[in-house]
Amino acid sequence: MLHFPVLLEESVDFLISNIDGKYIDATFGRGGHSKLILSKLSLKGHLSAFDKDPDAIKFSKNFNESNFNSFHDSFKNLTKYFDNKSIDGVIYDLGTCSTHFDDPIRGFSFNRDGPLDMRFDNTKGTSLAEWLNDALEEEIIEVLYKFGEEKHAKIISRAIILERAKYPITKTSQLSEIIQQIYPEKKNKNHPATKSFQAFRIFINKELEEFELSLDAAKQVIRKNGIIVTIAFHSLEDSIIKNFFNPSFTSFPKDIPLNNIEDKSFRCIAKKIRPSDEEIYKNPRSRSAIMRVFQKI
Ligand SMILES: C[S@@+](CC[C@H](N)C(=O)[O-])C[C@H]1O[C@@H](n2cnc3c(N)ncnc32)[C@H](O)[C@@H]1O
Repeated sequence: MLHFPVLLEESVDFLISNIDGKYIDATFGRGGHSKLILSKLSLKGHLSAFDKDPDAIKFSKNFNESNFNSFHDSFKNLTKYFDNKSIDGVIYDLGTCSTHFDDPIRGFSFNRDGPLDMRFDNTKGTSLAEWLNDALEEEIIEVLYKFGEEKHAKIISRAIILERAKYPITKTSQLSEIIQQIYPEKKNKNHPATKSFQAFRIFINKELEEFELSLDAAKQVIRKNGIIVTIAFHSLEDSIIKNFFNPSFTSFPKDIPLNNIEDKSFRCIAKKIRPSDEEIYKNPRSRSAIMRVFQKI
């Protein structure tokens, strides 16, 4: 299946204020946003793309534009590549690509059997199988609660501990069956393993930690009036964004408009843009997307 870029036109319209400017696509994926950005830039403009996933970077090599380059690295390392205040805009389209779930070898999917991996960058770090067969029960519980808001975290963790005492858990099907068998609510509209798989993926890839570091880095490399566009799919990602740009507010009261409480270095220029009904109909994955846009003052 192809990856359909989410909020494509809207996000790129906000991002580009200068067709001769320098831009970063922090999450290249299959290049949906990059392609549109490049079509809008002049040849004096430049786009650099990042992705942790080697398959994404391999795909980026199909882009032959002379004003484009890509880096196989985490977006947390932006300051390694760019000078302070040298960039006109950064876009983040967070989370996974559809292609991650299509390829069973990557170990993201509970519907397709494969090795229990789940790393965006499968060339380094610890796979989910390596971690899960060694982790303490309390650690598993914490991950499920914290990143999946899974209320059955304790019974799932217990079942994992019991199963791995018999056989190591090495396959996605094995993990999803363990969860399915003990899950108390059998009539959920989502698969019982949905929240657990999401929690493990966020944890194994240090998604929230690296995103926060990246926002810090972006804050440095962005020039005055430069733009940061974020597209989040998870309430924890969205909380990081709100708290990063509004550090004095640890929780975000719904009745106070973001425009009034921004910190001094950025102003919010679009605060909670969601896909249209038409986009959600065409691409159901877009239904949880929230876009926010900030401008450096
Ligand atoms: C939703 S996809 C991006 C899709 C892309 N905008 C498109 O239109 O094709 C998110 C991408 O971010 C990548 N990613 C996740 N965490 C990352 C990180 N810390 N650094 C760089 N890339 C990351 C994933 O590998 C994935 O390819």
